[in-house]
Amino acid sequence: MSQPARHGAKATTHTVPVPRSEWWRRAVFYQIYPRSFADGNGDGTGDLVGVLDRLDHLVDLGVDAIWLSPFYRSPMADGGYDVSDPCDVDPIFGTLDDFDALLAAAHERDIKVTIDIVPNHFSDQHPWFQKALAAPAGSAERDLFIFRDGRGDTGQYPPNNWPSAFGGSAWSRIADGQWYLHLFAPEQPDLNWENPKVPAEFERILRFWMDRNVDGFRIDVANSLAKPEGLPDADLAGWSGISHEPIPAGDPRWDNDHVHDYLRGFRRVLDSYPGERMAVGEAWVRDPERLARYVRADELNLTFNFSLVLAKWGAASFAQAIRESLDAMADVGAPCTWVLSNHDVVRHPTRYGGGAVGVARGRAAALVQLSLPGVVYLYNGDELGLQNVELPDALLQDPTWERSRHTDRGRDGERVPLPWSGSAPPFGFTTGAASWLPMPEQWVSLTVEAERDDADSTLSLYRRALQLRHDVPELATNELTWLDAPDGALCYRRGNSMVVLLNASDGPVAVPEGEVLLASAPLVNAMVPPDTTVWVRTAPA
Ligand code: NOJ
Repeated sequence: MSQPARHGAKATTHTVPVPRSEWWRRAVFYQIYPRSFADGNGDGTGDLVGVLDRLDHLVDLGVDAIWLSPFYRSPMADGGYDVSDPCDVDPIFGTLDDFDALLAAAHERDIKVTIDIVPNHFSDQHPWFQKALAAPAGSAERDLFIFRDGRGDTGQYPPNNWPSAFGGSAWSRIADGQWYLHLFAPEQPDLNWENPKVPAEFERILRFWMDRNVDGFRIDVANSLAKPEGLPDADLAGWSGISHEPIPAGDPRWDNDHVHDYLRGFRRVLDSYPGERMAVGEAWVRDPERLARYVRADELNLTFNFSLVLAKWGAASFAQAIRESLDAMADVGAPCTWVLSNHDVVRHPTRYGGGAVGVARGRAAALVQLSLPGVVYLYNGDELGLQNVELPDALLQDPTWERSRHTDRGRDGERVPLPWSGSAPPFGFTTGAASWLPMPEQWVSLTVEAERDDADSTLSLYRRALQLRHDVPELATNELTWLDAPDGALCYRRGNSMVVLLNASDGPVAVPEGEVLLASAPLVNAMVPPDTTVWVRTAPA
């Protein structure tokens, strides 16, 4: 069923069974894209010292944990997701000592620290790949990656027709005529997880960071490690040709069943450590039932659920996303995660139309996200109401721009550095003259400094919502009951007395009876205006 309950319809209650009480089951995580969060050394690029210096912003906001996108040694062909040494810090981000200091400072503030692990590929500059290039076809060095001979009389065609997620073929040819697989950029050769040295190396990497005391990991493209037997062609009929869109007839690149064996291996390593260490998988798996497989009892602890990223603005699509996600996760006893934005997708206020309407809808969507049972992932800048930035062609750095032959502008627009203070770019992000991507002058009203003491700002809204999420017992329950709502609105109760109503229609709707605890915009004539969410404490059901 995809619609909220209407008058006369039977209300559905979702109760997610919670067998344990690990810290991450109701946590609010905050994603830090290190290049763009805060610069500690004045070179215009964010770094680990910058994160440490700004930790108190996260304390004020009220988050439980951070997720740091990659800060490892990397040639930066894909913003650090091309890792050449997964057990060291890239000099642009600082040193291992800086990491240890950040970890200790976060822990002192009761903030958990989770980091990215990138197991599908290494950088082409990683010593393993350099050795593989120097070794002959069929060698043990090549077997750590996915090398094949090409098709055609002279092997001149790629071994299969798979596209890269960044555009163009997923294969590149090397000097001796063999081809290697890269589901992303050519600088990111895929590892061969069937070779036992690969899982063993990732066990070493996980242990390296857990020995330093990190609390958990975000597993990059967790659904791609297993490749299908024989690497068959994809059926590209009906595919949009847009590089990051899935191939509808069944996409052989992702979500092969064998991947779960590797994820169980990750879990065994996590569970072998004291404390509650966790992993969240990044798996763009659109079928909720298949997504739920990633969080079965002996697999990952959490998986990102991108249903709210994919949902168009509107009550019915939001209700469907919520309903299907809760149902699928309840079946396996895992908490749902809720995401609106990250470093790979257009920021949600921009997706909802941009401008003042986009911001209003973004605030309304945030109050839906923050009211749902389970785990929330915020992306740095969500709390300021930032929108995507249109950047000039010459500044675009995402490999998608070149590989799509300038048809897809890529993800730089959501990666523009955060504005902290002052009246002109770079808004306190750096003491240097400029940030690595330029900030628009209009962000003057969106700096942390400008929003901090403004009761109506998006930052104040997020702070209040996080505080209520922490303090109001109904929001800590796992129970969500759909209630009747007018057309274009959705309404549900959390626990037995906290009602959430999103008005995504064109006209005002009545406020549910009770005490309004929070509203994403002022009520108008005691009605909920369009593009607004309210949290209302009602009489117990
Ligand atoms: C997913 C990451 O979020 C994205 O930024 C990256 O480009 C790909 N994985 C490849 O690592």
